[in-house]
Amino acid sequence: MDRLHITGGTPLHGHISVSGAKNSALKLMVTCLLTDQPVELTNMPNLADTRFLAQLLESLGVEVYWPKGTSTCHLNAAELKSTIAPYEQVRKMRASFNVLGPLVARSGHATVSLPGGCAIGARPVDLHLQALEAMGADLRVEGGYVKAAAIHGLKGAHINFSTVSVGATEHAMLTATLAKGETILENAAREPEIEDLANCLNSMGANITGAGTPIIRIKGVEKLGGTTYPVMPDRIEAGTFAMAAAAAGGDVTLDGCPVEDLGALIAKLREAGVTVDADEAASTLRIRRNGSPLKAVSLSTQPHPGFPTDLQAQFMALMCTAKGTSIIRETIFENRFMHAPELSRLGADITVRGQEAVVKGVDHLTAAPVMATDLRASVSLVIAGLAAQGETVVNRIYHLDRGFERLEAKLGACGAKIERRSGEDE
Ligand code: EPZ
Repeated sequence: MDRLHITGGTPLHGHISVSGAKNSALKLMVTCLLTDQPVELTNMPNLADTRFLAQLLESLGVEVYWPKGTSTCHLNAAELKSTIAPYEQVRKMRASFNVLGPLVARSGHATVSLPGGCAIGARPVDLHLQALEAMGADLRVEGGYVKAAAIHGLKGAHINFSTVSVGATEHAMLTATLAKGETILENAAREPEIEDLANCLNSMGANITGAGTPIIRIKGVEKLGGTTYPVMPDRIEAGTFAMAAAAAGGDVTLDGCPVEDLGALIAKLREAGVTVDADEAASTLRIRRNGSPLKAVSLSTQPHPGFPTDLQAQFMALMCTAKGTSIIRETIFENRFMHAPELSRLGADITVRGQEAVVKGVDHLTAAPVMATDLRASVSLVIAGLAAQGETVVNRIYHLDRGFERLEAKLGACGAKIERRSGEDE
């Protein structure tokens, strides 16, 4: 298994271009199931997760043409040959569960495995199922699978989510595009990826308004057509590189950066004493820190526009060497501090108390072999490694490959001493 070897202590200088957003791409790919016309997605990130979803779509009968190394993915679901998504596929990647509603909308029935829990928490799908039931789908859970049918088609519904859920909002929105009548989603998630999905669906002929606000209205249409649509830039990748630059020091500009989606992070970075020049018009974010110490800053993760849970681990890595004590609260997932003990192996002083981590800044981190069990936790160890003294070895980097495109090449181009080597996992 591959590992990353990182020799810390070198400031980063240069430009990094931001890739297409994984968490948008995964939902945009599913739109192809709603039409017999071709869907062409540009600015697609080449990631283990997006390639994996392409395989699942192929198994359903979607023709996928996405040459290696290119960022345009052609999807054509002219005819579906299966409406079954098996356990092995949905367990490996939860976003696969979102094929359920679109398959029912298109074919009248589907059988999709329940995803099960994952490293960051239980992550139930009750809200997804409630939304589909409200739209008239008949659901049975058998042997770990959801069997769904809507023999007479789906109908619009008024759905008030009890919890803000990105996945359930997206799943309901995808499904409602072809339901008869109007669907209203209340307490909908407001993440930028939801607006991206709505824009893509509208470009296919859907009638969705209010995406990006807590109330989304979807007027069902008879049919959707094809589209060519660019995946939005990845705010989480951009935020991660911003924190890498802040941790290592130096002067890095992120190009093609969705500045307007990073307000909560930018405010926290400035509070911590990092110089941030945000240019929305030019889509650039310049991060500078030249030797000045970081100040400890506390935060609580929140649904958008609050501080994203997907940047919490990286911010904790940054706070490890800040002056003072920072309290980091995770409110979205119940088990998203797996990086804390690994950061402690690098010399960080972190105490986890339930949903809170208390980070007492130390003078410096010292390299060690580390590993993590999810994507964002793994990249927080890369950030810590860039700031630590000595050579940090990050194991199990297949997690990183799920969500970061050419991570070591992008950081390496800014002077980071980071190298991928094959070898036995530790
Ligand atoms: C999406 O997950 C992202 N994944 C996650 O990114 C991200 O952390 C999360 O949104 C929050 O922003 C993708 O987009 C593929 P939720 P999702 O439904 O949709 C509870 C990463 O690292 N809930 O908004 O699964 C749930 O347990 C990943 O890229 C229910 O109770 O997240 C959680 O506590 C990790 N019932 C909360 O809602 C449900 O039916 C928010 O989860 C659904 C969710």
